Amino acid sequence: MSTHSLIQTLPKTELHVHIEGTFEPELMFAIAQRNGIEIPYQNVEEVRQAYDFHNLQSFLNIYYAGAKVLVHEQDFYDLAWAYFEKCAQDHVVHTEIFFDPQTHTDRGIAFETVLKGLKRACDDAQEKLNISSHLIMCFLRHLSEEAALATLEQALPFKDDIIGVGLDSSEVGHPPEKFARVFAKARAEGFLIVAHAGEEGPPEYVWQALDVLQVNRVDHGVRSEEDSKLMQRLIDDKMPLTVCPLSNLKLCVVSDMREHNIRRLLAQGVMVTVNSDDPSYFGGYVNDNFIAIAEALDLTAAEIKQLCIHSFIASFLPESEKQAWI
Ligand code: ADE
Ligand code: ZN
Repeated sequence: MSTHSLIQTLPKTELHVHIEGTFEPELMFAIAQRNGIEIPYQNVEEVRQAYDFHNLQSFLNIYYAGAKVLVHEQDFYDLAWAYFEKCAQDHVVHTEIFFDPQTHTDRGIAFETVLKGLKRACDDAQEKLNISSHLIMCFLRHLSEEAALATLEQALPFKDDIIGVGLDSSEVGHPPEKFARVFAKARAEGFLIVAHAGEEGPPEYVWQALDVLQVNRVDHGVRSEEDSKLMQRLIDDKMPLTVCPLSNLKLCVVSDMREHNIRRLLAQGVMVTVNSDDPSYFGGYVNDNFIAIAEALDLTAAEIKQLCIHSFIASFLPESEKQAWI
């Protein structure tokens, strides 16, 4: 079987995808038009041309601007539904979706509007596509601890629909420990915990994610390789890393896919998984990420299968459901 067919055929989960990062320019234009909101582009090609990033911040500026056209519950539904259709194409049978409530509530959109739209799409995906999903709410780390605490409070009435909390946005200068109290409260409320760490930030941020936030998974974590003690800790704890290869390439975390460390991390026994992060902005959904690393790093069929198995082990699915897929 060809590598492409193998990747296409294998069932998998996706554990690191920002729903706002799945916003395809065509849908962005359609929603902007129906909401009467101006966007600073003439057409879809102009939007795609703007997607030329040199670091995380240069991407985030455009990503937050794009999200401004999302206003109504139906907009959030349409956004998530379009992503689920991509999941169906890529044989993603389960996905754990990040959303950034502050990006919307800071513009006067009700938390409930965002959540209800996303949840309705999740319910429809289960019913119509047989794809299961969880929602993970992320705090924007460039904003204050106080703002994150207020967001956590807003989420409590919807606790049953949100499996976990995460930490994203501008990493350097905003270490995990800035949010120690927010995550302690989230843990006490029963949320599972993830955090972006070691994408652009140093290994010290991964240590803080583990020891201060007490994460169940690390998002990205690729810079952990710079610290051998940290590597041993990740291996000993079977701590999953949700790695996003095309994101790392587009945001210049690596300058060439042939230099990506995911294969080395896998060989050393780290629980790495493959994910798309912000597929509309980075040039591909999860299978495109598998193909990119399979070609650049010459992955074997066994390695590709192992990465798909990891995606189930590292998921927040009940143990019995994981086992059924492995
Ligand atoms: N928000 C969306 N994508 C992100 C990324 N790759 N890192 C941090 N925050 C993000
Ligand atoms: Zn991310």
